[in-house]
Amino acid sequence: MARLTIFVLMMAGLLPVSAAAQEVSGDTVTVAVAPEWIDTGLIAWITPRFRFKTRVTIEAAPYAPSGAADPDLLIISAADAPETSAPRTPIASRDGAQYVAIALRDGEQGRNAKKLVSWLVSSAGSRAIQKFAPETGPAFGPPGDAAPAQTAAAATPQTDQGEKLALQHCGRCHVINEKNKYGGIGSTPSFGALRTIPNWRAKFDAFWTLNPHPSFTQIDGVTEPFPEERPPHIAPIELSLEEAAAIAAFAASMAPKDLGGEVKVE
Ligand code: HEC
Repeated sequence: MARLTIFVLMMAGLLPVSAAAQEVSGDTVTVAVAPEWIDTGLIAWITPRFRFKTRVTIEAAPYAPSGAADPDLLIISAADAPETSAPRTPIASRDGAQYVAIALRDGEQGRNAKKLVSWLVSSAGSRAIQKFAPETGPAFGPPGDAAPAQTAAAATPQTDQGEKLALQHCGRCHVINEKNKYGGIGSTPSFGALRTIPNWRAKFDAFWTLNPHPSFTQIDGVTEPFPEERPPHIAPIELSLEEAAAIAAFAASMAPKDLGGEVKVE
């Protein structure tokens, strides 16, 4: 009924079209994406799934390096990524290309973009990407597939910060490295062991969505507050998305632990 009214008013020229569109579509996030994400239909496949979960509508346009558009988020091949200090979150890979998401706005304005990044790296989001079957060409795979799994990246200021944060927050349960070799909780996998899981990168990029972490972890502007009736049973971990990215970068800089065989954590 409401939609019909809007439509009638619009046709009668009494309501600007944009106001009517907003009324119907609600929250949006504008994304500049690698053209193949549009051409294959991947973005069209993701949009309703993300909207179902968050009620946020993705408005995608093809990424052009010199484009006049001013999107909230970039999802592009790492090779095309512009120089920015914003964190790059690996999202997917295909045909040797690594796709990263780069949120371009801070604070409240960047909220929907961060929601989208967080969903894309969650198990639901990465499953949606990997289940998508393009009509031509290969499917999209998890991030990091094209990189040799055994190579450890070089240490940088970001990985140094990540190490400190990991020792401080994650070292309560996980053995991080030789610096807390006798710390951690026996039943919890060490970071070195987690590093041997094939999709370790996706797990570190969104560890706060994976049990047991949601019950005690808050990522600023991304996670919902703890439910009032279920406050965290242990001292909570509170991190910004940048700090979480630094921990993931630190994990990437570690050599996987040689366990003499396959490890299964799931
Ligand atoms: C209170 C204890 C605790 C803290 C603190 C903690 N973890 Fe964990 N974490 C666990 C346990 C237990 C598991 C194993 C869960 C399983 O195998 O089901 C785990 C598993 C993981 C996994 C693999 C998840 C999966 O589903 O395979 C990642 C990645 C991870 N933790 C990252 C982190 C990071 C990063 C931090 C710090 C910011 C952290 N954890 C802090 C207890 C903790």
